[in-house]
Amino acid sequence: MKSVFFSRFFILLPWVLIVIIMIDIDSKRAIRAPTAGRTVRAQRSPRSGSPGAGGAQNQSSLPIIYAITPTYSRPVQKAELTRLAHAFRQVPRLHWIVVEDSTSRTDLVTRFLARCGVPYTHLHVFTPRRFKRAGMPRATEQRNAALAWLRQHRGRRDSGVVFFADDDNTYSLELFAEMRSTRGVSIWPVGFVGGRSYERPLVSGGKVVGWYTGWRPDRTFATDMAGFAVNLQVILANPRALFKRRGSQPGMQESDFLKQITKVSELEPKANNCTRVLVWHTRTEKPHLANEPKLKKDTVDIEV
Ligand SMILES: *[C@@H]1O[C@H](CO)[C@@H](O)[C@H](O)[C@H]1NC(C)=O
Ligand SMILES: *[C@@H]1O[C@H](CO)[C@@H](O)[C@H](O)[C@H]1NC(C)=O
Repeated sequence: MKSVFFSRFFILLPWVLIVIIMIDIDSKRAIRAPTAGRTVRAQRSPRSGSPGAGGAQNQSSLPIIYAITPTYSRPVQKAELTRLAHAFRQVPRLHWIVVEDSTSRTDLVTRFLARCGVPYTHLHVFTPRRFKRAGMPRATEQRNAALAWLRQHRGRRDSGVVFFADDDNTYSLELFAEMRSTRGVSIWPVGFVGGRSYERPLVSGGKVVGWYTGWRPDRTFATDMAGFAVNLQVILANPRALFKRRGSQPGMQESDFLKQITKVSELEPKANNCTRVLVWHTRTEKPHLANEPKLKKDTVDIEV
């Protein structure tokens, strides 16, 4: 009797171990997946008065605006994201893709998004230290991770508009109504960039014919990240279009990206033929933290 028990036990033991090891490997792989995202669908309450969208319109036929926001941990992060959320939650059919520069989704951003009132996808990808030097373009990996997510999760039948919404800007609600009709690539002025109070495309006869800018006017597309939107189908039809890490200087990323998907003559000018500023590169001032205690902190732990 005893020997039967032991022989069964030793036959089963290796199989049990194999199953345990398989489960372990599987869970580790799931954790390591660099852009494993978490998506939360619309839970907004039906509210009246959709700004700029014409009130009584049937909103489920509007193309979705995918706002891509790269973000990283710093003292003003939550304040910046709060300002963005206050604008975005008033825009109908907006899906927020937030991409953290970190090795995992941080608690701060996870908690923030869960309460922000905007449908969102939360991704993360860590920028290697060697790319974090001055003179290197920033947020490249994060924007590319968002593009990869769209290419993986959206298809030919989805209508949408993709917009790169950095977290150091201020957005007018009118901007979203303008970009919603983007068929290919649309473009508009941006405040406080290019060393001037604004930068804008010069428009003649409804076409972009040049650029009003104080910085590198030789750029093919002299625009800021917040100055254009791309139809989702253009992103899907150009699966290799990405933000380049190598050979792209800071400030040249927009131009290098747009060159891969469009021509200047095909741009669709918005904001009254590019004569209105509806987005500003405001950049929050760095807070003064010189008196922050080094060791003996507050008696409670408060998230800022
Ligand atoms: C809105 O449009 C969608 C698709 O265009 C349709 O399925 C839906 O029934 C419409 N809803 C209303 C309330 O008209
Ligand atoms: C932009 O300019 C074109 C050509 O001059 C004109 O037909 C069009 O109505 C203008 N659009 C707006 C919004 O003013």
